[in-house]
Amino acid sequence: MLNGEYGEAVRKAMEILVRIGEALGAPRLIPVTSVHVSGISVNNIGVEGVELIEWFARNGARVLVKRATINPMGFDLDGIMPRDSREWALQLRLLNAFRNMGFSTMVTCTPYDAGNRPGRGEHIAWSESSAVLYANSVLGARTNREGGIVALAAGITGRIYLWGMHLDEERMPTHLIRIVVKDDVRNDLYSGVVGAIIGSVVDGIPLIDEGYRVDEAGVRNLLAAAGAWGSLPLIYLPGVTPDYRDARSRCDTCERLEIDDREIKDFIERVGGYADENVDAIFVGCPHVNTSVLDYIMNKLEKCGGTKIPFYVAVGGHVPREYVDKGLRLNIRVVRGTCMVVTELSRLGLESIATNSMKAAFYLPRRHGVQVKLGELDKLVSIACGAHGG
Ligand code: F3S
Repeated sequence: MLNGEYGEAVRKAMEILVRIGEALGAPRLIPVTSVHVSGISVNNIGVEGVELIEWFARNGARVLVKRATINPMGFDLDGIMPRDSREWALQLRLLNAFRNMGFSTMVTCTPYDAGNRPGRGEHIAWSESSAVLYANSVLGARTNREGGIVALAAGITGRIYLWGMHLDEERMPTHLIRIVVKDDVRNDLYSGVVGAIIGSVVDGIPLIDEGYRVDEAGVRNLLAAAGAWGSLPLIYLPGVTPDYRDARSRCDTCERLEIDDREIKDFIERVGGYADENVDAIFVGCPHVNTSVLDYIMNKLEKCGGTKIPFYVAVGGHVPREYVDKGLRLNIRVVRGTCMVVTELSRLGLESIATNSMKAAFYLPRRHGVQVKLGELDKLVSIACGAHGG
């Protein structure tokens, strides 16, 4: 591949991996079974980024792995959000280039809900931080937090450098975290705050001690928040991470840390405080929600006659279009294939947003200058209903 026998695009992809692998001191390359490429919003990568991906597709790059997916883009698939026609055309060129290389164009940050779900011990190359944390911490697969172009190169060559999270010794826990909270501080919002605090203060591999359990939505929020507020690739979660018991038994000398209710509630105040009806919009789906959460939201809002406050729910492109249409009947904007963070938010004219996502709470003020308020999913739904008089 490096000699150019398989074409210029494959040669370039392999050169990227070899150069980075050598710089990191990796001894060799290993095969990967799955890739996930982030950074595909035209709002982020511009014309130059699109032309680079097109160059790979034009010069014969094709995916060599079983499963290859891409992250959300700058626009939703159905035109629910306003579109700039020139940028939309650019986004479609990019989707087309990925499709020609053999990628699934289901555009989602939860590829594990859309057929790209690697198993325990599989070596993969993913580049969306929340998905990387999910792959390592929930599925037991092995990936570093790769850059988008590295994940692309891994897909084209079917290889990644043997380094970091691919090695047993790098996956050993370094910090033992005790979460001491009352039962009412365990919902989807608070688990995200726990993730944000861990991401902010831990530089290593955290292991959360027995006694702290959250449901699937809480796990997703916790991991996504940790990825946004820090640079962690893996968190050991009791009852969730496949190798938890073994890792816990090796954590007696870990650095110890405790997080309590007070710290969690103070963090919320510092970020923007609790949500009320005085916001311009509600946003759920960072990371993208699956159809069971979407059903839950729609059933609740159906009962109270729909939402009065604009209510955006971000989902992957694999979610059936019928959800978009049903959402419109309830005044819910189900946006497939994008989210409020990667879209050009100024087109919506929003100044304040309520969310249950601590990842969104990190990016929305920094990228879009939007004020954020926080609430768990049930609270956000009741605000939406209450605003309708329901
Ligand atoms: Fe996904 Fe957008 Fe959040 S890509 S993780 S919904 S910032």
